[in-house]
Amino acid sequence: QTYRIATIPGDGIGVDVTAEAVAVLDAVVPGIEWTEFDWSCENYLRTGAMMPADAPEQLAGCDAILLGAVGFPGVPDHVSLWGLLIPLRRAFGQYVNLRPVRLLPGTESALRDRTAEDLDILIVRENSEGEYSAIGGMHNPGRPDEFVLQESVFTRVGCERIIRYAFERAAERGGRLCSATKSNGLLHSMPYWDSVFERIAKEYPQVSTREMHVDALAAEIVLHPDRLDVIVGSNLFGDILSDLAAAVTGGLGLAPSGNINPDRTVPSMFEAVHGSAPDIAGQGIANPVAQILAGAMLLDHLGEHAAATAVDRAVCDVLRDGQIRTPDLGGTATTAELGGAIARRAVAL
Ligand code: NAI
Ligand code: MG
Repeated sequence: QTYRIATIPGDGIGVDVTAEAVAVLDAVVPGIEWTEFDWSCENYLRTGAMMPADAPEQLAGCDAILLGAVGFPGVPDHVSLWGLLIPLRRAFGQYVNLRPVRLLPGTESALRDRTAEDLDILIVRENSEGEYSAIGGMHNPGRPDEFVLQESVFTRVGCERIIRYAFERAAERGGRLCSATKSNGLLHSMPYWDSVFERIAKEYPQVSTREMHVDALAAEIVLHPDRLDVIVGSNLFGDILSDLAAAVTGGLGLAPSGNINPDRTVPSMFEAVHGSAPDIAGQGIANPVAQILAGAMLLDHLGEHAAATAVDRAVCDVLRDGQIRTPDLGGTATTAELGGAIARRAVAL
């Protein structure tokens, strides 16, 4: 089978790390047809738009999308976010944001004395509704009784599908699922979320469940990550918890993510968690591992499980070996040197 994969390298280090991920995927799955789109903040400065209005149509025929990162000094972040990332996630109904958080070999956790067995968490974040809503606004501007309203939207369909997805993943993995809630403070949305969670839990007797207030769960990630396996959270809670969890492992250079529509009739989109890193852009020293692992998630999503495993093992082998490390991991290697070593290792497996 030939896959058609779109790349949107974007800005800054997104361009460098995407090139390495493409080379690694080519090494394990021959014959991928790549199409590159130069949609980015530079494109915005040139044309006034991050991407053309028909961008979703241009991408619709591909099997998956590999996105670098967008963001550029001088272009406000809401332009790149609402001009590219969010419209693409919504155009393709990518309602799952999947963020595996692991301690990789040869890297150090910010938590002392934690091993790879302790730190292996899958965060399932709702990616289409919830707290990130455009509904609301300013009332009585300039008056003493001025206030803003910011609405959250929790639909039955939206809650059921993300929670069911999380139960499916938990059933495949360790059989443990923790739901992030805050039903003591949020009197409408979170009790509803909890009721959907408890109803769907009855369909999965093999999965043991916990419901934790998100503040306590944040502390649990730091203090007892070994007690956690799969976590499901709303858009806002999942966003915050996944950055926290990535930070307690080896850092941003290692953390991949997927924006997934599980029904596979439309493309899903895979990206590193990190941004375009203007502070190190153009120096060729960004760590390509996060983007290469995003590529492995992409292969897994396409059903290329053996190739995905090979990429994953190649990353682990090269990191464990420790000879070739980018500066964020304490070494002096370039992006291309680390990416090249992983590609060669993946071919050899
Ligand atoms: P960032 O993730 O780009 O950088 C944060 C820090 O981590 C920097 O010191 C950077 O050098 C370091 N870092 C990040 N990735 C690295 C890698 N692969 N190797 C080595 N070091 C790495 O976050 P920041 O600085 O907050 O945002 C920069 C720009 O990226 C902004 O315009 C922001 O909007 C955008 N951004 C885009 C995202 C996306 O496209 N999905 C996600 C996050 C931020
Ligand atoms: Mg975030």
